Amino acid sequence: MLPNSVQVESSAPSFLSAAQPVSAGPLRQTSFIGIISECREMQKIFNVVEKVARTKSTVLILGESGTGKELIARAVHKLSGRQGRLVPVNCGAIPEEILESELFGHEKGSFTGAISSRIGRFQMADCGTIFLDEIAEMSPKLQVKLLRVLQEHKVEPVGSTRFVDVDVRVVAATNKNLIEEVKAGRFREDLFYRLQVVPVELPPLRERSGDVRLLAQHFLARASKSAGAMELTFSEEVLTRLSNYAWPGNVRELENLIERIAVLSESEKVTEDALPEYVRGVAAECNVIEIGDTLPADGIDFNQLVEQFEAKLIGMALQKTGGNKKAAARLLRLNRTTLVEKIKKKGLEEQVEVSLEEDAPRVIL
Ligand SMILES: Nc1ncnc2c1ncn2[C@@H]1O[C@H](COP(=O)(O)OP(=O)(O)OP(=O)(O)O)[C@@H](O)[C@H]1O
Ligand SMILES: [Mg+2]
Repeated sequence: MLPNSVQVESSAPSFLSAAQPVSAGPLRQTSFIGIISECREMQKIFNVVEKVARTKSTVLILGESGTGKELIARAVHKLSGRQGRLVPVNCGAIPEEILESELFGHEKGSFTGAISSRIGRFQMADCGTIFLDEIAEMSPKLQVKLLRVLQEHKVEPVGSTRFVDVDVRVVAATNKNLIEEVKAGRFREDLFYRLQVVPVELPPLRERSGDVRLLAQHFLARASKSAGAMELTFSEEVLTRLSNYAWPGNVRELENLIERIAVLSESEKVTEDALPEYVRGVAAECNVIEIGDTLPADGIDFNQLVEQFEAKLIGMALQKTGGNKKAAARLLRLNRTTLVEKIKKKGLEEQVEVSLEEDAPRVIL
């Protein structure tokens, strides 16, 4: 049986001894090698990263897009003390045929266009770390080869009959649910276990208590500093609005929005009108329907009212998540497919328009 999501166990955060806590004025700002957070879950993760970094264990980083997986991978390498380089490979962005030679290298003439032999990224990362990003996108054939490399610490360049020894620390990441991928037969179970020797699951930003405020202020201070402009501050209402929004694009979405606000701001105090509609429009409470203690004398149309109630809840969830159906389903404790069916059935698709740009979702309600 496959395990459920991974819980990182720890007591008091000990990472402060290795990393530099940064204190900026009145803010209780905590930075673990540039990763800002004061949330407990993240501090447990920093603690695990600090512990695991000096070992050779494979680390599997899980989390939604924009939660900071790459930052954690870099932190693992930085604290590892390994002499070699950190070599990132985006397994989802490179076609299968090319990925094999990218990872393991190739011999001259091994395929059309291989005019000279070349070493792969595993060899480039010798004595260092290879960061296999979007690992769930790797083809079954390459998954087999990768498993062999992880077990034998040797790579076989394409078109070669010899094996080359490599001393590489492997860090992998994905925003997919790897357990689901294994169950669906798209990801090898043996490779999954081999990769998740030390699993690290980054919580989405909406579940990190206090971090939206902290990060928003951090990004604003950084943006005003880099522009060499006046020092901007947020009004309390802005910080509340930002904290109420669900951030489907996580820290990346927040970072980009704050940068945009900083560039466009005309006064030192950033007020609510600087926020886009989809952040400002978030309802603070959940008063979706008003119904008295007794039914009206002429009764009610039960089905119609239930329909309206459902439509309203779905609309609110989509608004809160900037049109992201997956995040909305999570807020409503529904399966994504159930939510999608309901949206279709109720003809709500037209009410939601998600921008193609992941970072700037837009909702028209
Ligand atoms: N805790 C944090 N403190 C400061 N900056 C952060 C933090 N988390 C993420 N960021 C910033 O947010 C952006 C996204 O982070 P990163 O690329 O590490 O996310 P990711 O999980 O790898 O995303 P994806 O799944 O889309 O590849 C980066 O610009 C990163 O510097
Ligand atoms: Mg990434």
